Amino acid sequence: MSGLLEGKVAIVTGAGGGIGRAEALLFAREGALLVVNDVGGTRGGDGQSQAVADAVVEEIRKAGGKAVASHDSVATADGAAALIKAAVDAFGRVDVLVNNAGILRDKSFLKMDEAMFDGVVDVHLKGTFLCSQAFAKQVIAQGGASGTSGRIVNTTSVSGLLGNFGQANYAAAKAGIYGLTRTCAIELQKHRITVNALAPIAKTRMTEDLPMMQGVANMTPEHIAPAALFLGSDLCGDRSGLVLAVAGSRMYAYRVMESPGRFKDADDGLWTAQEIQDNWDAIAKFPGT
Ligand code: NAI
Repeated sequence: MSGLLEGKVAIVTGAGGGIGRAEALLFAREGALLVVNDVGGTRGGDGQSQAVADAVVEEIRKAGGKAVASHDSVATADGAAALIKAAVDAFGRVDVLVNNAGILRDKSFLKMDEAMFDGVVDVHLKGTFLCSQAFAKQVIAQGGASGTSGRIVNTTSVSGLLGNFGQANYAAAKAGIYGLTRTCAIELQKHRITVNALAPIAKTRMTEDLPMMQGVANMTPEHIAPAALFLGSDLCGDRSGLVLAVAGSRMYAYRVMESPGRFKDADDGLWTAQEIQDNWDAIAKFPGT
């Protein structure tokens, strides 16, 4: 039986552990040729180790799959270019990109310094921008007369979509990934490149010390991987710009909503601040609430 990604070239960033590793292993089982990217640093993004990506490559090869390692950082333009080059050198093309790499530097807002903010935004948001752009350019270049197609799967978070204490840097980066996903989905539609985002919750080294994860055994990276496979495969169809959320056995979705609002008659002049207060309930009311 042929797999959902048979012969497709898939890149998963941050695939040396956690969610990225589970995604890479599932993609390989579904027939994809993998580029396993990871710098192999700490949770906070310090240090590096090639062994982390190499171990997952070895795991895939032992199971009969095909994979190469990339130890490049997604946070620099040179790293993103090298990542795409690694895929083309090994397999001749690219088809799927999962932007999953991430670090965490939590601190309450008033205590957060510039380096904590920049470091997190660089890996998550800038990394997603740089890798997606390098990937899309390669997809378009290899498309030729037959038209182009490719699939980008970004990784956002409930922290960015709803907010979370101690994560001003991370939430800003993840909310930025939401905006980037929406815009790339619009701009890349003409090249038949779909761009969607996952909002996962799983027990990994990033979350294992959170109180909500203590004693939890049914929220694993393996629960997340099928959602990435869906968005990275042709089962996704032309769906684009969407956020698919997964937490253990729960599969759900996020979207930003706009209230119908209230119009003021043109003859009545501009809204005043006092009128906004007086009409707040009507202005901010959402259907069904
Ligand atoms: P993890 O820490 O196990 O995996 C992240 C991987 O990214 C690590 O292996 C790390 O070495 C790699 N990485 C870090 N900086 C990199 C860089 N500059 N270039 C290449 N690789 C780099 O964490 P986890 O939980 O698997 O996170 C995966 C993604 O899911 C992240 O984007 C995270 O923000 C997101 N996420 C995870 C949630 C969870 O509940 N675990 C919740 C919401 C989002």
